[in-house]
Amino acid sequence: MGEPKSAANETDISRDQLAELLNEDLSREYQAIIAYVVYSQVLSGAEYMDIATQLEVHAKQELDHALIISRQIDYLGKMPAVTPKPVRTSKKAREMLRYDLENENETIRNYRDRIRECEALGEYAMAEQIRQILIQEQDHQIDLATALGEEVPDVNRGPRGRALRRRR
Ligand SMILES: [Fe+2]
Ligand SMILES: [Fe+2]
Repeated sequence: MGEPKSAANETDISRDQLAELLNEDLSREYQAIIAYVVYSQVLSGAEYMDIATQLEVHAKQELDHALIISRQIDYLGKMPAVTPKPVRTSKKAREMLRYDLENENETIRNYRDRIRECEALGEYAMAEQIRQILIQEQDHQIDLATALGEEVPDVNRGPRGRALRRRR
């Protein structure tokens, strides 16, 4: 284990910065809504019937998340974002599922950070709301990994799990 950054540094953010980060989360929720709306309809083939049905459920849950996150941003006195992160498309079913899984991994990494940040600011109720969202995101991750026939990825690897990741 290397020299760990102090917990205080990692979570030492202002309410304005938290609102900005929540707006990034909101853009990821919009991205997820769009991806699940489209992928659930275009996934074809008998082997993908079950997951296509699950993706329709995900789409609706992502809309609930977007509403919850917007409410938190408004509560912090900021304007909720209106732009989704870019949505990747593919004609190949496995590729679509792979993109979804990668997005869920990124979302989970971010919400885990966000919970720590909310708690550092004493926003315990907000942290609790995000915990509830995180539970569903982890279910999405499991559904996708299962459909791909893979292990659920460990998104906590590395310093805060995303040192080598490009931020979108
Ligand atoms: Fe979500
Ligand atoms: Fe999700």
